[in-house]
Amino acid sequence: MKTENINHEFLDGVLDGGHADVYYHFGVSSEDALLEPLRDVKAVIMAGSGGRIKEFADHWSSLNGGSEIVAFPKEDRFVTRYTAGVLFASHGMGMPSASIALQELMRMVFFLKRGDLAAMDEVFWARVGTSGGVGLPGGTVVVTSEGVMADLKPYRLLQGGSGTYWFDSTFPAAVYDAIIAANSHTDFEVVSGKTVAGNEFFLEQFRLDGALRLETEDSKMEWLQWLHDNGVRNIEMEGAMMAGYLNHWGFPKFAMICCTLLNRLEGDQVTATPEQLHKFSEDSGVVLFNYLKSTLLS
Ligand code: URA
Repeated sequence: MKTENINHEFLDGVLDGGHADVYYHFGVSSEDALLEPLRDVKAVIMAGSGGRIKEFADHWSSLNGGSEIVAFPKEDRFVTRYTAGVLFASHGMGMPSASIALQELMRMVFFLKRGDLAAMDEVFWARVGTSGGVGLPGGTVVVTSEGVMADLKPYRLLQGGSGTYWFDSTFPAAVYDAIIAANSHTDFEVVSGKTVAGNEFFLEQFRLDGALRLETEDSKMEWLQWLHDNGVRNIEMEGAMMAGYLNHWGFPKFAMICCTLLNRLEGDQVTATPEQLHKFSEDSGVVLFNYLKSTLLS
């Protein structure tokens, strides 16, 4: 961990009892007894939708002999479950929403591990989601090697009017390689590649089917081809931020696993059937759980 990038000014006071940390959007605080069983957390798994989080927690519990599932009481923003060493939390859609979830979860992990940097090094983080494929058909699972924004540059935020904060949004190679190795026998393709995080589903992903249309067929195809030529394999809305923040604190183990819903070189609308979408979504879960089984259950 990079202790110099951790907000010790605020967080150390939580450890020494000076003040509580309120994880407002999760509806819990560091003083809640509900968090006590989570001290043993080994992995934090994030996904966009709350329904997915409940399914993941149920599945992980069944793989762990029906382990007890702890549910956080507040569910109007994010849905959260904990079972058998894994904290599952939804993050909503897009980087503004997901950054709130991630920052509160990072603070929570700091509290749960009592600020022990070696213990925090051991925590695995992942986002499991959906994406648009770039040159890949729907149903492919992409394990991200590097998060980039729509201009192929790393994640960054405006520093007010004076400049830009840049973040390292690469993903650790040892982890994406291990995830792919744990999934050598699936009946669907699992590949690694760069992933664009768009700030918008329509405009910053160069779609022509939004209410607003700023691109042409030519400029869209030119952008998608440029992405493909530069190693991008899918487009979603959270990964570059997630890698940027986790790298900032120095977490060594994290990944993003996204199924593709369509091939953006062939269109903009998601026309897969509900059955196909269900299978796509299940497959990214299969990739996650094959990896979790190989690391946490063996
Ligand atoms: N999610 C995205 O952000 N883009 C897509 O094309 C599909 C899912």
